[in-house]
Formats: sequence, C-alpha cells, structure tokens
Amino acid sequence: MFDSYNYNPFLIAQYIRAFGNEETAKLLAANEKTLPRAIRINTLLTDVGSCVKRLEEKGFVFSKVKWCSEGYIVKKEPFSIGATPEHLLGYYFVQDPSSMVPAIELSPAENETVLDMAAAPGGKTTHLAQIMGNHGTIVAVDINKEKMRALRSNIQRCGVENVLTLRMKANELTSLGIRFDKILLDAPCTGEGTIRKNPERRKTIDEKEVDEYSAKQQEMLKIAGLVIKPGGILVYSTCSLLPQEDEQQVKYAVEKLGFELLGLKNKFCAPGINLKQCGRFYPHIHDTQGFFIAKLKKT
Ligand SMILES: C[S@@+](CC[C@H](N)C(=O)[O-])C[C@H]1O[C@@H](n2cnc3c(N)ncnc32)[C@H](O)[C@@H]1O
Repeated sequence: MFDSYNYNPFLIAQYIRAFGNEETAKLLAANEKTLPRAIRINTLLTDVGSCVKRLEEKGFVFSKVKWCSEGYIVKKEPFSIGATPEHLLGYYFVQDPSSMVPAIELSPAENETVLDMAAAPGGKTTHLAQIMGNHGTIVAVDINKEKMRALRSNIQRCGVENVLTLRMKANELTSLGIRFDKILLDAPCTGEGTIRKNPERRKTIDEKEVDEYSAKQQEMLKIAGLVIKPGGILVYSTCSLLPQEDEQQVKYAVEKLGFELLGLKNKFCAPGINLKQCGRFYPHIHDTQGFFIAKLKKT
C-alpha cells in the first residue's frame, strides 16, 4: 500500500502498528516535504526583538514557535540562516521547534546542578544555560570526540559560562560521585524522526538498529536513575517516533527504576501511545521533525 515511498518494510509495519493506516499515510506524505528551519534566540547575548529586527532587515521572514517565546520558524530565507554575522555572534541557535521543548520542560532553576547526559553538539545544553541565566551548574557529557568539539564551540559562541564539558561514556557517570537535581537524557536513537532531513534513513533503519538503540537507551536510563537525587526530575527525549525507543523506555523507567511519569506543560504536543502524559511531535501535525518527550520524577 505504501510501496511507492520506498521505505524499509519493517518501518512501515511499525508505523501501521503504532498509528494505523490513515495516520501512517499522512506521516509518509509529510515526510516528503522540506523541513522548515527554525531558530532559538539566545537571550544570554541579545534580546528577541532586536535579533528578529536585525534578521528581518536582511530579508528573513519568520513566524513564531507557539511553545517557545524565543523560537522563530524561518518562512523566507534569502540566504542560509546559519551564515549570518548574528549566528557567528551567538545570537541564535538553529534548532527544530520540537527540540526546544526538553529544556523548557526540565525548567532548571538558577541554583540547580543539572546533567545533560548526551549533550553534543549542544542545542539543548545552550538552551538550559539560557534558562538558568548562566547560573548554577550544568555537566554536559558526550562520548563523541568530534561532536564534543562542536559542543565546546557552541558553548563559547553562545556566551555560556556555567557548563562543565566531559567527554566520557555516560555509563561511567556514577564514578563522578555527583547527584543531580535535574537530568536531560536526549538519548542516542535511530533518528527515525529526522527522515525529512535525512531521506536515506527510510531505507537503512532496520530492526537490529532499533534493538541496539533501545538497549543503549535502557542502559542510560539506568545510570540516570543512579545519579539523580530523590525527587529529582528527568526529561527523556528522542528524535524517533518508534514506541520501542519512546514509551517502552518510559515504561521501563517507571516499572524498574523507581520513576513516576509526570504530565508536560506543553499543550501543543500529541499524547503518547498508551502513556498519554508523554508528548509526541509529528511532521504531519506540527510540521516539525518526529520527536518524543517524557518528564519523570525520581521517587
Ligand atoms: C540525540 S544526540 C544529542 C543531541 C544534543 N542533546 C543536542 O541537543 O544537541 C545523542 C548523543 O548521544 C551521544 N552518545 C551516544 N552514546 C553515548 C554514551 N554512551 N554516553 C554519552 N553520550 C553518548 C552521541 O555522541 C550523540 O551526540
């Protein structure tokens, strides 16, 4: 039925099981459309009004992201939004609107100690720092050497001053002996939700890869459970719409790791599958990448 889209049949079967035929048809059609770019204005270095004005004077046209007051969708892009002096100056971060949600949901306070467990290249670390007004402490961890360079460069570009970067495997975090008030686990995933940006992934994502990532996600959730303070908040997110990487991981955290699932502040996301308090962003509903988010409290 969906052969003309040329996906791995495994993925199509997963979609039909999770969403049904009608929604799958809408999702596949939306994945054919170019993903609009968006920016999050960095209030550590500028203010929203003057940054938007500077960019509009260069010919950019924006609409607002409904759920993030610093978020703007690029409606007209006379040249690459990543190639302006304002970008170099750190006045904004190019970021999908769905990716603006995790830091807002985690909502770290200025005196808190926050862990970003899979941080590079830093889209969400820089957002956390912005919300914290450069106060408190963020420990930003990633395993990948090249991506760590990008993380450090983004931190510097965006004027972020409250981040300690560590290149290490998050699985070894217990050795630091730190307990965190809040944790963001923007987990490594298949990236199935990024097919609009990476069309070749429709063919290459297979069952084995999903199994491998879900085992990794489970491992990282276990570590989050060990290094979070009692009563601490964990936000878990992926850019995948596959329930095995999403609700199934949340269910594991609730049933095996002593987390309680909380509702989200965001009123625009679609509910999770079976776990209604989780949030989902769909290309055909929100015109974003595919994205999943859940907020949990350690009991
Ligand atoms: C979805 S990306 C993170 C994107 C990032 N949060 C952002 O907003 O820019 C997932 C990251 O997990 C990292 N990663 C994979 N396995 C890891 C591990 N065991 N420990 C720490 N980081 C890991 C990858 O290198 C990758 O950068």
